[in-house]
Amino acid sequence: MATPFFSTLLLSLIAIPTIGAGGTAPRSDILALKSSLAVEEYETSILRSQDGTFSCGLHSIYTGAFTFSIWYSDSLNKTVIWSANRGRPVSSRRSVVTLRKDGVMVLTDYDAAVVWQTEADLPNVQYAQLLDTGNLVLKNTSGAVVWQSFDSPTDTFLPTQQISSTAKIVSSTQLHVPGHYTFRFSDQSILSLMYDDTNVSDIYWPDPDYQYYENNRNLYNSTRMGSLDNSGEIFASDFAWHRPLAASDKGYGIKRRLTLDYDGNLRLYSLSNGSDSNRKWTVSWLAVSQPCMIHGLCGPYGICHYSPAPTCSCPPGYAMMNPGNWTQGCKPIVDTIGCGDGEHNMKFLRLPDTDFWGSDQQRINQVSWQHCRNVCLSDCTCKGFQYQEGNGTCYPKNFLFNGRSFPTPTVRTMYIKLPASVNVTNSLVPQSNVLNKEKHHLQCDRVSKTTREPVPDVVREDSKDEPKWFYFYGFIAAFFFIEVFFFTFAWFFVLRREFRSSQQLVAEEGYRVMTSHFRMYSYRELAKATEKFKHELGWGGSGISYKGTLDDAREVVVKRLDNVTRNKAEFQDELHVIARINHMNLTRIWGFCSDRSHRMLVLEYVENGSLANVLFSNKMLLEWNMRFNIALGVAKGLAYLHHECLEWVIHCNLKPENILLDQDLEPKITDFGFAKLLSRSGSNQNVSRARGTLGYIAPEWVTGLPITAKVDVYSYGVVLLELVSGTRILDFVVGLEEDVHVVLKKFVKMLSYRLDGEEPLWLAEFVDFRLDGDFNYLQAKELIKIAVSCLTEDRKRRPTMESVVESLLSVELADEN
Ligand SMILES: *[C@@H]1O[C@H](CO)[C@@H](O)[C@H](O)[C@H]1NC(C)=O
Ligand SMILES: *[C@@H]1O[C@H](CO)[C@@H](O)[C@H](O)[C@H]1NC(C)=O
Ligand SMILES: *[C@@H]1O[C@H](CO)[C@@H](O)[C@H](O)[C@H]1NC(C)=O
Ligand SMILES: *[C@@H]1O[C@H](CO)[C@@H](O)[C@H](O)[C@H]1NC(C)=O
Ligand SMILES: *[C@@H]1O[C@H](CO)[C@@H](O)[C@H](O)[C@H]1NC(C)=O
Ligand SMILES: *[C@@H]1O[C@H](CO)[C@@H](O)[C@H](O)[C@H]1NC(C)=O
Ligand SMILES: *[C@@H]1O[C@H](CO)[C@@H](O)[C@H](O)[C@H]1NC(C)=O
Ligand SMILES: *[C@@H]1O[C@H](CO)[C@@H](O)[C@H](O)[C@H]1NC(C)=O
Repeated sequence: MATPFFSTLLLSLIAIPTIGAGGTAPRSDILALKSSLAVEEYETSILRSQDGTFSCGLHSIYTGAFTFSIWYSDSLNKTVIWSANRGRPVSSRRSVVTLRKDGVMVLTDYDAAVVWQTEADLPNVQYAQLLDTGNLVLKNTSGAVVWQSFDSPTDTFLPTQQISSTAKIVSSTQLHVPGHYTFRFSDQSILSLMYDDTNVSDIYWPDPDYQYYENNRNLYNSTRMGSLDNSGEIFASDFAWHRPLAASDKGYGIKRRLTLDYDGNLRLYSLSNGSDSNRKWTVSWLAVSQPCMIHGLCGPYGICHYSPAPTCSCPPGYAMMNPGNWTQGCKPIVDTIGCGDGEHNMKFLRLPDTDFWGSDQQRINQVSWQHCRNVCLSDCTCKGFQYQEGNGTCYPKNFLFNGRSFPTPTVRTMYIKLPASVNVTNSLVPQSNVLNKEKHHLQCDRVSKTTREPVPDVVREDSKDEPKWFYFYGFIAAFFFIEVFFFTFAWFFVLRREFRSSQQLVAEEGYRVMTSHFRMYSYRELAKATEKFKHELGWGGSGISYKGTLDDAREVVVKRLDNVTRNKAEFQDELHVIARINHMNLTRIWGFCSDRSHRMLVLEYVENGSLANVLFSNKMLLEWNMRFNIALGVAKGLAYLHHECLEWVIHCNLKPENILLDQDLEPKITDFGFAKLLSRSGSNQNVSRARGTLGYIAPEWVTGLPITAKVDVYSYGVVLLELVSGTRILDFVVGLEEDVHVVLKKFVKMLSYRLDGEEPLWLAEFVDFRLDGDFNYLQAKELIKIAVSCLTEDRKRRPTMESVVESLLSVELADEN
């Protein structure tokens, strides 16, 4: 059966690599010049190493989101060991990996934007090959490797891969974006695990509480070279006495990987023997055997303890900042913990066998506890101090991070500063108790090896004041989570800050999120592009639109949005959702502006204005083929919005004014971003009824029934009738006393009666007279048939847009009659 994406499929079939010259059989481990791996064929269009161990191609991380990756072919769940574009997935349409003629391997997104590429000036590249080691290489005409994926690892080292002085692996979070943990040679040339974020960067392996030699490290070899070998031994130049670390199942013939996991622990995994279905990865060595030693696990002020499973808790007087997520740790239950007016306003709470590692303001040796307390009390930035009984060492701290409670008694005792007014008599002090079998407080998911944090449903709060033009509600796709929380939150607030502080690092880590095709514009840029808002356009729906030209010569429409009551952050959240919507029959949103009170959208400029302009004026005659093509294109666009788009969008205001035509008269639906986003459960019924346009709105709009995607189907039915007849349906009603729905109902009844009648003459009367009888009878009949079913009163009996597309495709090639 024909599908709406038939043509896309055809194209990608043509693009499938044809490898090998001179009649040799194609080799699945080689990608020749000018060939590519297309996302539409991601299940078959892959490279496979000669011994079959590794595969390489586009890998789906979420519905509709792909990375270019290498994975173990035979593990049950794809175990990805390398990704070119982690944190910047590409779309499930038209994305492609190509080895270009000039020897550059590029990954492009749906809009041909380059998301990743190899160096540009590699000489004489002849082909790409996936080796049995899991290394993807580019080879030149003499067979020498000129580029290799082993030089840019993601979160995994493989046997034989060099851990060079510059190599590093960075953990992936459970949302498939780079996390805060890295494994690399430190500035002291020590192979280390580190926690890195904007404010904190410290090493937690080898154990910072010990001297280098106690950790079997040699501070005096700066060679910086390491590797994992085929027998399961890890070597590094700084290992004292050249003594390697060994897997528990040391020996040859086992497939292994060394991965920095999302929880900050470095683990060596072995793939167990057995039949395909029960092969799994088992841990044969791990860097940190006590998870609470890993830094940053419980966030600021949080304390990691064993009860007996590793658990995060807040100290007394503190509460979890963001329930369900320990990244942000705890916050004091009182507003500020300063220094108070005098010593009676503050107290210190004793946490035995506990430490917050790092952030020491100073170290004072051999002082009394009283002295240490007074130092912290008199310093307003001091949040607490560690005191070591016995030798009297005092460490006042200005930031409490990396908190942990030791499972065995130590001399370390932590005293945290609290206002005297806070009553903590009944609070539990988080303490490690390896004997206690009962669960204690919240399970710290991020620490536990077995439980994985589920990606929570995100449900946004409906704001009380009804927004004027956007109606967004929570929805469930995990992708949304990425969207709003990573792309928006992280990009806008965290990454941009990081960008300033260390552009180098950001670029390295693949954080070039939100590529050039969607960006924020300043008011000045847009004023310049539109020559101070000079060229007003007559079309485009809500808000005044201006024509403009961007610096890169792209023609755009700048739409000024008045009455936007939403604040900047909400506005940006919403935009990032619609920015992902991409279909050839929907107008693209290139960017936005949210400068002071200005709220503007930057949209694709579409050549020929709106369908209303063309259809209802006598400027040009739309021939039948064009009309059919418009009907099909609009149906495809709506089907994409309703069924394929990740967020399930309802347009709510489809009419000829909102259908734009490009230079080839290909339709592009506009204004869809303003519609409501529904959760797939369809439970939300709170859409404002102010948006629709009389004549195009479905009856349930008026009667107050829940709004579903079927309102668009109804509007589409009206547009179809207008396309065929060339007149506004509303014009039928003018002068009549009756309600437009009632008239339309009678009209539809008449049409359906005639359709059943098999009497062809009425059709010629109904079709736009300007066509002068020059139309396809079968197609016209099908269009009216579809319109009639779309205009059914009972919304449940209206077809879906997908089935409309199928019906149209079935007559697309119908013979002229
Ligand atoms: C692999 O996938 C199966 C089913 O899809 C799941 O039950 C299992 O937990 C997964 N295993 C791992 C190690 O993720
Ligand atoms: C291929 O690369 C190797 C190593 O860089 C170099 O020695 C050789 O000359 C190159 N061959 C060609 C044909 O460029
Ligand atoms: C970094 O420190 C600043 C100032 O103390 C604070 O506002 C911010 O939340 C911290 N960021 C992180 C990621 O902890
Ligand atoms: C440093 O380590 C490397 C690799 O183990 C070794 O070849 C080299 O001799 C060492 N250098 C010194 C000065 O010990
Ligand atoms: C798997 O089988 C090979 C060969 O039979 C053996 O050498 C190896 O130790 C086995 N691996 C494991 C993890 O049992
Ligand atoms: C936890 O919160 C941080 C910061 O708000 C966010 O970046 C991260 O995605 C969240 N993680 C999860 C699993 O919710
Ligand atoms: C104090 O004693 C502890 C434990 O005995 C020891 O680890 C620490 O290094 C000592 N501190 C000083 C400054 O001697
Ligand atoms: C603190 O709270 C406990 C019970 O919640 C109460 O018995 C005690 O008197 C309170 N102490 C102060 C100083 O308010």
